[in-house]
Formats: sequence, C-alpha cells, structure tokens
Amino acid sequence: MKVLVVGNGGREHALAWKISQSNRVDRLWIAPGNGGTEEEGENVDIASGDIPRLLDFARQNQVDLTVVGPEAPLAAGIVDAFGESKLRIFGPSKTAAELEGSKVFCKNLLRHADVPTADFHTFGDANSAITFLKEREDIPIVVKADGLAAGKGVIVCENREQALEAVERITGAKEFGEAGNQLVMEERLEGHEASVLAITDGRTILTLPACQDHKPAYDGDLGPNTGGMGAYCPTALVTDDMLEKIEETVLVPTIHQLKRSRRPFRGVLYAGLMITPQGMRVLEYNVRFGDPECQPVLMRLKSDLVDVLEATVDGRLDELSPLQWDPRPAVCVVMASEGYPGSYPQGVPIRGLAEAAKMDDVKVFHAGTATSNGDVVTNGGRVLGITALGRSISVAKLQAYSAVKAIRFSGAWCRKDISDRALSYV
Ligand code: AMP
Ligand code: GLY
Repeated sequence: MKVLVVGNGGREHALAWKISQSNRVDRLWIAPGNGGTEEEGENVDIASGDIPRLLDFARQNQVDLTVVGPEAPLAAGIVDAFGESKLRIFGPSKTAAELEGSKVFCKNLLRHADVPTADFHTFGDANSAITFLKEREDIPIVVKADGLAAGKGVIVCENREQALEAVERITGAKEFGEAGNQLVMEERLEGHEASVLAITDGRTILTLPACQDHKPAYDGDLGPNTGGMGAYCPTALVTDDMLEKIEETVLVPTIHQLKRSRRPFRGVLYAGLMITPQGMRVLEYNVRFGDPECQPVLMRLKSDLVDVLEATVDGRLDELSPLQWDPRPAVCVVMASEGYPGSYPQGVPIRGLAEAAKMDDVKVFHAGTATSNGDVVTNGGRVLGITALGRSISVAKLQAYSAVKAIRFSGAWCRKDISDRALSYV
C-alpha cells in the first residue's frame, strides 16, 4: 500500500520510521518532511497546511492512507476534505479537532462530561475579564488564549497584577492574534504533569503507556516553555491503576460527550494531565500525537502501526489484537539550536549523525533539519530527538546522552536532566 505522512517534525520522522517498517507498505511519502524522513521514504515539497495540493497529490498517486501529524491541518479540516474525496486519512474531523483548537470548547465539554479539570471561567471580551479579576480574591491564576497559539497562548500567573497583564497581552496587544478573541481563566493547579495518549475510532479505545514531557527550556524546569525538550515512556508517575482510572473517568466520558455533540472522534486523543494531591485533572486535550512524546512511544511499539492506523480509520479497532510493547523504557533528548525558543540561526551543518546511528538501541529522529548539497543542516529550533531504549530509565538515559555526545553542530544544546524526575516517582 501507499502511505503519505503530513508534517515535518520529530513526530513525523518517528511516524515515517515506524510506518516504513510495515511489510504492507510499498511506498511512503512525507510532505514536506525533513532531513531525516528522507531516510524512510520520499519527501514531497508540499507544506502541511496546503490542503488542496495535498489532496491533489493523494488523488494522483492513489495514496491508500494519509496520516496527519500536526494540529493545524486537522483544525483546518484536512480530514473532512479527504473524506469528501473518499480518501482514507487518519485523524479527527474539523469539528472534533476543536477539542484542541478551542480551549473554551474543550473546557465546556469537560464540564458537561463531568471530567475532572481546573475550575474555570470563559470571557468574550477584555472588560469582563478585567472586572472578574478585580472583583475576586488575589490568587494564582492561569490565563489562556482560546485558539491555537503553537503552545504559547497559556500564561501561568502568580497574582492579579500578572493576570491583568496577561489579559492585556492576549486581548490588547493581540500577541496571539485571532486566537485571543476569547479567553479562559482557571485556577492554578500544583502537581506533576503527565501525557496520556489513546488511539480511538470513536468506540474502542487503545490507551498507550503514559509519558512525561519536559516543556521548560532549561534544567530543573527553569526558563521559558518550549514545544518539549525531551520525553520518556513509561512514567511511574501514572501507575497501572491510575491509567485505568484515567481511561474510565477522562477518556471514555470525553469520547462519549463528543459523540453526543455529533463530533465523533477518530485519531489520537492526547490528555495533558496534572497529577495533584487531590487527584488528576485534565489541563488540555490535543488531537494528535505529542511531539516529542511520539518518539519514545513509537520506539517501544512492536506491533505494526499501519494495522492500528487503518483499523482506526475503518472503525474496527475492536478487531485488532492487543498492542505489543517492548518492556524496556525509552528516553528522548531534544538537541536544539542556539537561541531556541527565541530566534536561532539556520543552515548550520550537523556532524556525527552516522556515528550516533551505529549505537545500539538508539534512533536519531530529525525535527528541524534539511539536506543541503548532501549535508544535513539545521532548519529549526528543535533540531533532533535522540531516542534510546534501555533496561531501565537510567540506562536508556545514559545511552541517549552517549549518542548526543557523538553529534555536533555549532550552538547545539540540550537539557541534561531528561527523565531524572522518573526516579522520584518510584
Ligand atoms: P496547556 O496548553 O493548556 O496544556 O498549557 C500549557 C502548560 O501550561 C501546561 O503544560 C502546564 O504546564 C501549564 N498549565 C496549564 N494550565 C494550568 C493550570 N490550570 N495550572 C497550572 N499550570 C497550568
Ligand atoms: N509535547 C507537547 C505537545 O506535543 O503538545
């Protein structure tokens, strides 16, 4: 069969790598892909947001299955467009993708489905938000722009003054553009974060082992938030009992509520959770694989991913045999460009990739890379996701960092403490 992966990050390299291992796949394209996806299939020069051209490409090349990595094309309706042309595509419809595309929609759905989440209020204009803040007691609060803002539209505030400033940034300065037309304000939760991802066809749910992402830029969780500087899987923060409870009290009611709202969900449902002393709460939903969570998860998956993706698209996940996992944990360390998450140079040559690739139980997933005259060069902020398996988290971590040491590019840096928190949960 012929498969097309849409996107150009580390997540899409991991998807392409895993899909290329299926003996059912004859041809694999990645649009637009990166310097690493070229090793797994053929890159196609079409941006992930260009739905008409992606549709044309899939029609002309008789693509049997399209797999969408990022949220933006999902929120823009790529699944509906392909569906109308009778092309099979993995991911939620536009209306179901609103779960990630609108925080107001998500919070209201959680409330209706009785899913545990932080107490919240929504606002359609700055004045009502400001009045609300001035009238209530001065406690830590989180201010969120409603729409997609590349993970940056959430401002965690210590007090009223900071919250008023956040409202101004979102509604006055319009830092996140249209995404800030509505606001959510919610109580600030304290605890540890976990990512629980599930694949669902709207009826059957396959919950994947829980992961932990490391969003802050610097060691010890300091510095600005990023797209994720590393992740590991599984995490002992979420025990088997908790995972079962999350399925029952979070994932199942959410999927049912979506169905009742005539937005049946197919694809990856990703719950961002805060594990608090009072129990777990949903911080947000994403409607796609996490990046970098996807890298350690797929490194551990032994089953054929194409079977899973197809069964989801066809609504027969109930017929699939249980997923097989490598019992060994996996750790993914992101190597970033100098300056990330701010501005950074591009086109910097990367050395040592072949050396790292030879190491046991290591896979170097590319994210912000491109090829230029046969050389791999940097082409983004998060450049590589070095992922390793090991008999324990510590061994996997050691192996990942050994591979990091083999790779060199000017200005390269990474967090040194990816997965260290795992040790405090056991
Ligand atoms: P979100 O995109 O909603 O997951 O928010 C991004 C990040 O902001 C989360 O990963 C948390 O670190 C933080 N955050 C969001 N909501 C809250 C909350 N209610 N309390 C504390 N931190 C939060
Ligand atoms: N790792 C966070 C995300 O994919 O949104």
